[in-house]
Amino acid sequence: MPDFAELSLDGKTYQLPIVVGTEGEKAIDINALRDQSGYITLDSGYKNTGATRSAVTFLDGELGILRYRGYAIEDLAEKSSFLEVAYLLIYGDLPTKEEFATFESGIRRHTIVNEDMRKIFEGFPVNAHPMGVLSSLVCAMSAFYQGDNGKDDHLNIIRLMAKMPTMATWSYKKSQGHPINYPNNQLDYCTNFLNMMFALPVESYHVDPVVASALNKLLILHADHEQNCSTSTVRLVGSSRANLFSSISAGINALWGPLHGGANQEVIEMLEDIKADGGDSKKYIAMAKDKSSGFRLMGFGHRVYKNFDPRAKIIKKAADDVLNKLGVNDPILSIAKELEEAALNDEYFVARKLYPNVDFYSGIIYRALGIPTNMFTVMFALGRLPGWIAQWKEMREAKEPIGRPRQIYVGATNREYVAMSERFRFVEK
Ligand code: CMC
Repeated sequence: MPDFAELSLDGKTYQLPIVVGTEGEKAIDINALRDQSGYITLDSGYKNTGATRSAVTFLDGELGILRYRGYAIEDLAEKSSFLEVAYLLIYGDLPTKEEFATFESGIRRHTIVNEDMRKIFEGFPVNAHPMGVLSSLVCAMSAFYQGDNGKDDHLNIIRLMAKMPTMATWSYKKSQGHPINYPNNQLDYCTNFLNMMFALPVESYHVDPVVASALNKLLILHADHEQNCSTSTVRLVGSSRANLFSSISAGINALWGPLHGGANQEVIEMLEDIKADGGDSKKYIAMAKDKSSGFRLMGFGHRVYKNFDPRAKIIKKAADDVLNKLGVNDPILSIAKELEEAALNDEYFVARKLYPNVDFYSGIIYRALGIPTNMFTVMFALGRLPGWIAQWKEMREAKEPIGRPRQIYVGATNREYVAMSERFRFVEK
């Protein structure tokens, strides 16, 4: 492998260093290019731009590989717990028994949300989207836990991991007109979340272990995905030295969009529409292919996966298992399978390498678990939290410079300003 790439511009040759990652990924370092040549690189949507060197997650979109800190997603989803994966992502290695006990008990100790934050929450309208509520409350944490930016990062990480489930369940309770539940620190992370979501003061509630285990798997599958839109947002905001809470809050907002995490809500709404319209999946495949329709097959396609999304493979099987175990017969699961089958055999989708992504089947499981549609993206945020934290921490520890892309200006060139009084005088009748 050469040490440099050579670029010829305006009769001069520039040597640009080659960077190789531990999995053999290659990059050309263009950091000095503008200073040397006056040129920048242009890459809308960062389709081919490496923004950082990261040791958190490796993925190979062509081969459908996803690993957290070197461990295969298939193994983690099958054998690990969400909190163990969170530790792995945030601190780099699997925890020892003692390290895990300290991490877990720290999280159990911090689950209560400040009562004054509850007053902020009470001001939201009953029909507020839970993503807006969650991002606001996470941002508000920066007012309640000001601490020392840098010195208190570890404690703030524990606080955030601990309080997210509590805050996430509040907005659901409000939308139902039910009293909120407080955390029960005897319960594990997933069981505690489900208890806060579904327990009512008027009847006893028992968390079904099938449900808790399905939730554990879904959270693991969402825990990190290297430099996606929301993670890049977290890193970019954090690069200005903004605190952890405001950086993560920005990530939650980025995740909300329908092209990113918001797709899981859109998928279910789309499948419901297809069902209400007679269940003709072919009609919707045709619409997705017709650019003038403005319709996209939600839950299909991915910026980096061009073979299959390994998370979708696991989730599809989990959807079958969970529905079977819970005895749920959801007609939209058959519509989803029909749609997948039709798309995978259609030239349009094959040529563009469009496969089902993580969001295609996750909503079907969430529905079976009793989680309402507008909470789906909140579930994604809950899962993605350790990934955002790990990436934020990595960026800060590496003392990365502030993120500040350049642009090619395409607006008006220099124009002479004529004062309003002058301009209006000319057009007056
Ligand atoms: N349905 C129909 N056509 C599609 C779809 C789709 N879901 N996705 C991409 N295409 C077409 C697109 O029109 C384009 O066609 P052409 O080359 O003829 O112009 C081609 O495929 C390439 O698409 P693109 O929009 O340039 O690809 P991208 O990498 O910029 O976008 C994406 C990736 C995920 C935003 C896009 O595939 C999409 O909008 N999918 C639906 C939304 C979705 O499911 N998002 C969740 C992503 S996974 C969860 C996460 O990590 O966020």
